[in-house]
Amino acid sequence: MKNIIITGASRGIGRDTALQLAKEGHRVLAISRNEGALRALEAEAGGQLQALPFDLTSTDCRAVVAAADSWGHVDAVVNNAGYLLNKPFHETTGADWEKIMGVNFYGPARLLQMLRPYLQAAPRAHVVNIGSMGGYQGSSKFPGLLAYSVSKGALAVLTECLAEEWKQEGVAVNCLALGAVQTEMLAAAFPGMQAPVSSEDMGGFLSYFTLHGHQFFNGKVLPVSVSTP
Ligand SMILES: NC(=O)c1ccc[n+]([C@@H]2O[C@H](COP(=O)([O-])OP(=O)(O)OC[C@H]3O[C@@H](n4cnc5c(N)ncnc54)[C@H](OP(=O)(O)O)[C@@H]3O)[C@@H](O)[C@H]2O)c1
Repeated sequence: MKNIIITGASRGIGRDTALQLAKEGHRVLAISRNEGALRALEAEAGGQLQALPFDLTSTDCRAVVAAADSWGHVDAVVNNAGYLLNKPFHETTGADWEKIMGVNFYGPARLLQMLRPYLQAAPRAHVVNIGSMGGYQGSSKFPGLLAYSVSKGALAVLTECLAEEWKQEGVAVNCLALGAVQTEMLAAAFPGMQAPVSSEDMGGFLSYFTLHGHQFFNGKVLPVSVSTP
C-alpha cells in the first residue's frame, strides 16, 4: 500500500485517478477546492481515500503537511490540478497570469518544497506532474492557449531540473504532457471536440504510471497523446 497525494481530484482525470488508486488499496489524499465533490468521492472510494479541501494558490500549506506528517512518508505526489485560460495574449491581464501560474506552476512547486522531507522518507518516491501537449516543445500550438501552454511549459522544465536535484534523494520526478482527454477542461479549450481518450481510461493509465513509471523514467517529459489537438 502506497501513500499518494493527488491534486485536482474533484472531477475529470484527477478524480478518476484517485478513485482507481484508492480502489486498488492505496492511501489517497484527494485535494481540490470543492468540498462537496470531494466528500462524494470519499463515499464512493470507501475508506482508503481522505478528502482535503484546499486551494492550491494558498501559501498556507499546513493542512497538506499535517496529513503527510500523519502518514510519516509520501510515496507519490500527482500534481494534476489545472486551470485553463482561453484568451488571446493581448487581452491577458496581470491577474490572469497570476491565477494561471498560481494554479499550474507556483502551487505544485510550493507543495513539492513542503513535502520534500516526506518524499525523502519514502523508499523510492515518485512525483508526477501533469503537463500538456501545449507546453511540450515543438508540438502544435493553438491561439488563445498561450498563457496555459506557458504555465505547463514551466512545469515541464521544473520537472527536468528537479529530477536532477533530487536524484540522490531517492525521489524521481516525471511530467506527462497530455493530449486531448474528454473532460470539462477540454470542452473549454476546444468546444465541440470529441476526444479519443476518456477521463476514466486516462485515470487508469495515470494510476499505473504513478505506481510504476519511475522504474523506467526520471526527469522525463513524456507526450501522452494520440491526436492533434
Ligand atoms: N482534458 C484534457 O484534454 C487535458 C489535456 C492536457 C492536459 N490536461 C491537464 O490534465 C489535468 C486534469 O485536467 P482535467 O481535464 O481533468 O481538468 P478539469 O476537469 O477542469 O479538472 C481540474 C481540476 O483541477 C482542480 N483545481 C483547479 N484549480 C484549483 C485550485 N486553485 N486549487 C485546487 N484545485 C484546483 C479542480 O478542482 P476544484 O475546481 O474543485 O478546485 C479540478 O479537480 C490538468 O492539469 C490539465 O491541465 C488536460
